[in-house]
Amino acid sequence: MFVVVGVSGGIAAYKTVSLVRALVTAGHTVQVVPTEDALHFVGRTTWEAVSRHPVTTSVHEDVAEVRHVALGARADLVIVAPATAHTLARMAGGLADDLLTVTLLSTTAPVVVAPAMHTAMWEHPATRANLDVLTARGVLVVGPDDGPLTGGDSGPGRMSEPDDIASAALALVSARDDLAGLTVAVSTGGTREPIDPVRYLGNRSSGTQGTAIALAAADRGAQVRLVAGFTDDGVLDPAVRHPRITVTRIETAAHLSDAMRDAASGADVAVMVAAVADYRVAEPSDHKLRKEDGPPRLELVENPDVLAELVATRADGQTIVGFAAETVADDAELRARGRRKRARKGVDLLAVNAVGWQRGFGTGDNAVIVLDATDHVVGEVAGDKRAVAEGLWDAVLRVR
Ligand code: CTP
Repeated sequence: MFVVVGVSGGIAAYKTVSLVRALVTAGHTVQVVPTEDALHFVGRTTWEAVSRHPVTTSVHEDVAEVRHVALGARADLVIVAPATAHTLARMAGGLADDLLTVTLLSTTAPVVVAPAMHTAMWEHPATRANLDVLTARGVLVVGPDDGPLTGGDSGPGRMSEPDDIASAALALVSARDDLAGLTVAVSTGGTREPIDPVRYLGNRSSGTQGTAIALAAADRGAQVRLVAGFTDDGVLDPAVRHPRITVTRIETAAHLSDAMRDAASGADVAVMVAAVADYRVAEPSDHKLRKEDGPPRLELVENPDVLAELVATRADGQTIVGFAAETVADDAELRARGRRKRARKGVDLLAVNAVGWQRGFGTGDNAVIVLDATDHVVGEVAGDKRAVAEGLWDAVLRVR
């Protein structure tokens, strides 16, 4: 999803950094639009670092791209956090004197505001009237919370916690519940196969795509069992907090095999996104290998193919989805390899994606082709990992 996070000038802007981080981690593309005043509280560098996108407050940059309306048109969701009394007033009055207010005027996406201000300003009839106007227009107001305020006073006016803002905002757009009633098992992240007590064979999987698939399913109403190997920092956090997701952590392919068998038993859909090591060290050393012993000779043995095991033990009506990460640039060759792998694995759906040193792993965006059991393309989706996740579930529903 493409989310615009507007930030107006209040001390609570520092909490919005966590909000942006959580949205990016959940696989969304986030464009931060601060007001000039907001930059006094948290600077552009921080916003660019957490959102991984350039940030501007001005309608006079990138004019050739008609940026001032492009952002609003592209947005799937706009969140204003913190929303100061002044910005709420500008929104209510339909003013358009900076990039944030222009974006708000040019969007048809759902808008969520998280007010933050002193209690006196929150309770002032002018602010109340502005909020009435905004709620009548369909704007969702989250908070503010009651508690200590800057300056020592206490009362309603604290910006809500970033997690609460994110879940209220995402619930607003994911009103779809087309996976309600389904139980799904998803694996994510990479396995690590021990060499000795301190070393392992591993891979570069960040766990982002699998976690986005679990989150998308849960947001669409499914009960999700997520089996997670090693992932990048913070990637799993939104899944751990999600009320419809249970997370089981694993380390090796053998653990994954056991955990996925459990998770998939009784599940309607199983999706293997984890990057499983195909081989493990036959006999990991029980002490740290020393350089003075010379270069180690590692004997490798094959790990279980978890996906093949799931296919072999599949219950009637269960849909099994595999992923294929291929290092080919040529599209025709990518599809041909995908078809061969789909047949070899015997899965109902195979999501094929191209990976490389700079593609797929750890990057925000992804592109997959989804093949069905007759090798027809039933989905082709590119975008942020959340968009790919949504496209994958659309394809699952199409074949079920
Ligand atoms: N997979 C698995 N168990 C393994 C290896 C892979 O369950 N031991 C799953 C992955 O989670 C993925 C699919 O199989 O859903 C394809 O993984 P991939 O690494 O592309 O294929 P491999 O079977 O390992 O084939 P190859 O390495 O020859 O491309």
